[in-house]
Amino acid sequence: MSQLVLLLSGPNLNLLGQREPEIYGAATLHDHVALARATAAQLGLAIEHRQSNHEGDLVDAIHGARGRAAAIIINGGAFTHYAWSLHDALAAFDGPVVEVHLSNPSAREGWRHLSVVSPVATGVITGLGGVGYRLAVEAVAELLSA
Ligand code: DQA
Repeated sequence: MSQLVLLLSGPNLNLLGQREPEIYGAATLHDHVALARATAAQLGLAIEHRQSNHEGDLVDAIHGARGRAAAIIINGGAFTHYAWSLHDALAAFDGPVVEVHLSNPSAREGWRHLSVVSPVATGVITGLGGVGYRLAVEAVAELLSA
């Protein structure tokens, strides 16, 4: 049976494709999830995806992954920069956590330079656009087989 990976998408990512395409590209969230799913299928993993614009929904999804999912891939959107509840929920998850961003927040406005997710992430992939989703799944596969 495939190991389950929870892919979490934070606020405003449902607007990808329409939202600031000069920064985030033309691909939709559906496109990124499809790439993650296709990569996962090749590697014997299964993706469960959840997008929410509400912090508590993401906390609940992380809790729901405990004991069920082998790993979490998260693009927390703007919550990345201040939602300490996500930090704490991820800290209570036993398994690899890969943080992904389409853009490179460190090269943008100062308020994006802090990630509250990074201290509890196994690794971080930023600035590579949609490719980051494929790389995140590959990283998870590596980490789970190590
Ligand atoms: C983002 C970067 C965040 O700073 C921003 O708030 C987003 C998208 C990214 O994927 O580049 O919503 O997480």
